[in-house]
Formats: sequence, C-alpha cells, structure tokens
Amino acid sequence: MRKILCLAIVPITVLAASTWSFAAAQFHVLAPAEESFIGMDQVLIIGEVTGFNEAKMVEISSNGKTLGFAPLQNGNFTFKTKLADGRHEITLAAPGVDRKSIRVFIGKQEGYRYHTELDMKYCNNCHEKAAASNYSVKPMQAELCRQCHDPVGTMEIVHGPVAASSCTPCHDPHGSRYDKFLVSIGKELCLACHSQNLSRKHIEERKNADCVKCHDPHSSAKEYHLR
Ligand code: HEC
Ligand code: HEC
Ligand code: HEC
Ligand code: HEC
Ligand code: HEC
Repeated sequence: MRKILCLAIVPITVLAASTWSFAAAQFHVLAPAEESFIGMDQVLIIGEVTGFNEAKMVEISSNGKTLGFAPLQNGNFTFKTKLADGRHEITLAAPGVDRKSIRVFIGKQEGYRYHTELDMKYCNNCHEKAAASNYSVKPMQAELCRQCHDPVGTMEIVHGPVAASSCTPCHDPHGSRYDKFLVSIGKELCLACHSQNLSRKHIEERKNADCVKCHDPHSSAKEYHLR
C-alpha cells in the first residue's frame, strides 16, 4: 500500500516542479505602445507582471542606463520619467521575471498620445482608489466612459461588443498611436473578431477599404450596421 502511494506521489511532484519552473513571470507594458514616436519628453510607463514572483521593485533602464526603480503593487507598476530626444530601448527587470524591452522614439514626430493625463491622480477617474484596488475597473465600461463622453451605441441595432458594454477591444484606455485611441486600424481592427470564412471573404474583397465608412462600429438603424 505504501509503495503504491509513493509511486503516485512522485510523478505528481515532478509534474508540479516542472510546470513551476517553466511558468516564469512576464512583464506586460500597457503604455506606451512599442515602437511608437512620442512627441514630448515626458513618458509614463504603465505595466503589470503576471505569473508567480516575489519581486518588490522593477528596475527601469534606458539604453543600458538605470533610470530608477518602481514599486510593484499587486503586480502593477508605473514610472514617470523625462527622456532626451532620440531612440530609447527601455528595459524592465525584476527578480524572477523575464526581462522585457520596448523601443520608443522621442522627438518632434508625434505618434503615440496618452488618453489620460500623465498625473497619477487622473488614474482614479477610471480606477477606484487605483493602487489599493489593483487597478480594477467598473465592469460596465460604457458607464465608465460615459462620465466624460456622450453615450455611444444609442441606435436600434447595437454592435456585439458595445451591446456587452465593452469598449477596450477597440479603444486603448491609456493611449494609442492611432486616431480615436484605437488599438489598431483598418481591417485589422475588425478581423480580431470577424475572421470567420464568410466575413473574411467580404473583408478580402474590400481589401483595406475603410470599414467604418460603411459600417458604424457602435450602432446603427440599419441591418449589418450600415450607416
Ligand atoms: C479612461 C479610463 C482609464 C484611465 C484614466 C486609466 N485607466 Fe487603467 N485601465 C482602464 C481600463 C478600462 C482597464 C481594463 C482594460 C481591459 O480590461 O481591457 C485598465 C487597466 C489597467 C491596468 C491593468 C489592470 C489589470 O489588473 O490587468 C493597469 C495596471 C492600469 N490600468 C493602470 C493605470 C494607471 C497607472 C493609470 C493612470 C496613469 C490608468 N490606468 C488610467 C481604464 C483607464
Ligand atoms: C475622465 C474623463 C474621461 C474618461 C472617463 C474617458 N475619457 Fe476618453 N477622452 C477624454 C479626453 C479629455 C479626451 C480628449 C483627449 C485628446 O484627444 O487628447 C478623450 C478622448 C477620447 C477619444 C477620442 C475622441 C475624439 O473625438 O477624437 C476616444 C475614442 C475616447 N476618449 C474613448 C474613451 C473610452 C473608450 C473610455 C472608457 C474606457 C473613455 N474614453 C473614458 C476623457 C475621458
Ligand atoms: C468594434 C470596435 C469599437 C468598439 C467596441 C467601440 N468603438 Fe468607439 N470607435 C470605433 C471606431 C473605429 C471609431 C472611429 C470611427 C468613427 O468615427 O466611427 C470610434 C470612435 C469613438 C469615439 C469618437 C467619437 C465618434 O463617435 O466618432 C468615441 C468617443 C468612442 N468611439 C467611444 C466608444 C465607447 C465609449 C465604447 C464602448 C461603449 C466604444 N467606443 C466601443 C470603434 C469601436
Ligand atoms: C470584440 C469583437 C468585435 C470586433 C473587434 C468587431 N466586431 Fe463586429 N460583431 C461582433 C459581434 C459579437 C457581433 C454579433 C454577431 C452576430 O450577432 O452575429 C458583430 C456583428 C457585426 C456585424 C453584423 C453581422 C451580421 O451578420 O449582422 C457587422 C457588419 C460587423 N460586426 C462589423 C464590424 C466591423 C466593421 C468591425 C471593425 C470596425 C467590427 N465588426 C469589429 C464582434 C466584434
Ligand atoms: C462599400 C461599403 C462597405 C465597405 C467598405 C465594407 N463593407 Fe462590410 N458590408 C457591406 C454591406 C452592404 C454588407 C451586407 C452584406 C453584403 O452585402 O455582403 C456588409 C456586411 C458585412 C459583414 C456581415 C456579413 C459577413 O460577411 O460576415 C461584416 C462582418 C462586414 N461587412 C465587415 C466589414 C469589414 C471588416 C470591412 C472592412 C474591411 C467592411 N465590411 C467594409 C458594406 C461594406
């Protein structure tokens, strides 16, 4: 009996140990977007770490030079810094977390724009008591956005994600390099969900035609969300 028990325990421990060692924690940068041009010298890095780790601080460096450290709170961190004109390879490092680098370019050329003010107190417009609450947001995004924007999606036939009160599949709440703070543009934005064969055929036929010229992304009075 004891022998059987041991045989059962050994593979379980081995399995647990191997998944443990493979699941290295990861950095995710929420702002700014990689490879973006930023037309100002102030940069606010918003990031999070997923996966098990015991890190307390994130070291932020640019082109190999340490800029400073940011505390990790509930897996989230923010770091505001001034950067000189030119190319910056920003590297994030913390014990037990895979290193991550993003490139940004500071200069006159504009690309990325922050949606929110860079002052930390503005985070609370959308995140209730930000740091303490793990940057959680209200589940009904439409309500959240409506605090500052006119309601969208008020016409009879409401587009799927909007009907689900979901705005962030298409809009980045922190900033974007695209107009209207979109996460991507052209057919890519729509293909993220409409990759079924039937839609794909129509989308390929329209090539890179501006989908939202004919379709309203929020709601419409006509079928197929036509304008
Ligand atoms: C306009 C509203 C808005 C503002 C202002 C805003 N956020 Fe967010 N933030 C969101 C939304 C919405 C999400 C969730 C995104 C999603 O689920 O797609 C989010 C997600 C996050 C997350 C990830 C949380 C998680 O658990 O995954 C972090 C971290 C974060 N925001 C930090 C910040 C910081 C720091 C600021 C201030 C500089 C800020 N946010 C300002 C709307 C906002
Ligand atoms: C605290 C106020 C506030 C909240 C809440 C807010 N926004 Fe904004 N939003 C702004 C301001 C201010 C601008 C103009 C900034 C700019 O254009 O540089 C803006 C601009 C935009 C634009 C571009 C509008 C245009 O006509 O060019 C979009 C799209 C947008 N926000 C989407 C959202 C979404 C989606 C949410 C919810 C996740 C949201 N916003 C929540 C303040 C807010
Ligand atoms: C399926 C993608 C998609 C979703 C989901 C979405 N939007 Fe948009 N939104 C767009 C696109 C594309 C534009 C710009 C094209 C246009 O003018 O219609 C836009 C434009 C906007 C604008 C600028 C003013 C305007 O009407 O053109 C605001 C504000 C906005 N959206 C808010 C929201 C809010 C709030 C939500 C969630 C309730 C939301 N959007 C959900 C794709 C989306
Ligand atoms: C986050 C996912 C998502 C994104 C992104 C998205 N859609 Fe949709 N779309 C849906 C869902 C869900 C439905 C509802 C599906 C249904 O009822 O058959 C829908 C329905 C539609 C329909 C009606 C289809 C029908 O058979 O009546 C059209 C047209 C459409 N979307 C166009 C677009 C366009 C154009 C874009 C890009 C601007 C886009 N969608 C982006 C999720 C998305
Ligand atoms: C010139 C206007 C026009 C443009 C541009 C256009 N569509 Fe459509 N779309 C239509 C019409 C009309 C329908 C109704 C069904 C049909 O005739 O195929 C439709 C139907 C759809 C449908 C639902 C039916 C299906 O095939 O799944 C989706 C999804 C869709 N379009 C997405 C897109 C996307 C994504 C783009 C951008 C690449 C786009 N459309 C560009 C006019 C247009």
